[in-house]
Amino acid sequence: MKPVLFFDSGIGGLTVLREARVLMPGRPFVYVADDAGFPYGAWEERALADRVVGLMGPLLAEFEPEIVVISCNTASTIVLADLRAAYPETQFVGTVPAIKPAAERTRSGLVSVLGTPGTIARQYTRDLIASWATKCHVRLVGSDRLAQLAETYMRAGFVDEAQVRAEIEPCFLEQGGARTDIVVLACTHYPFLVNRMRKTAPWPVDWIDPAEAIARRALSLLDPLGTAATTLDDTRDIARLTSGAPDAAIRRLMHGFGLRMD
Ligand code: DGL
Repeated sequence: MKPVLFFDSGIGGLTVLREARVLMPGRPFVYVADDAGFPYGAWEERALADRVVGLMGPLLAEFEPEIVVISCNTASTIVLADLRAAYPETQFVGTVPAIKPAAERTRSGLVSVLGTPGTIARQYTRDLIASWATKCHVRLVGSDRLAQLAETYMRAGFVDEAQVRAEIEPCFLEQGGARTDIVVLACTHYPFLVNRMRKTAPWPVDWIDPAEAIARRALSLLDPLGTAATTLDDTRDIARLTSGAPDAAIRRLMHGFGLRMD
């Protein structure tokens, strides 16, 4: 059976992979982290798109995936069209800010989108707001540090809560007696920190994590016969780092997610 390939700049795509595992336990998975390019947030758009398109060719040749999930908002919002043009035989599923569900769900009309500086600056993100959220006030909040904080947290097991609080603080807005009631997690790294975000938030909000929706979208594009297969094999799934230099902490983490590193 051909694998489902996940691609991110780091460990963030694991938040999507864990949902995919639940939905399609019989599938083989390959997880690719472009740690040599991490973080993606500050990359110039053209350079990032060229990098991801360039990395994808050898990965497709080696793993021959049935589908590729770009489990990274920063890459998806700039590179999906280029990937589809460069590799027309391959199906790509993207991860883009969950602005539509947020606009449907908000009661106060004040929504914040928390992502990397790259995702927040994208025309793609602005177009999503123009298409789906014209009746809301959407605040775009770019964070330089949260993705790295999530990496540190998942590798080392601790995070400085004061730093988390400082990064999420701009998401919270009070205006005309109303308060922000939804924060969209527009970076796949952030769900790993969501409990710290809840703890340090000035008031309770709904944090939207699109991981399950992305996994469902991927499932809908797969051949159902393959998805029904139940040959469970703990050693089959693999993780690959573009640096080629996994340290002990990342090996442990990948192992914890059921991914082998050669
Ligand atoms: N996980 C990525 C995203 O969803 C980006 C993290 C980074 O490279 O800064 O946007």
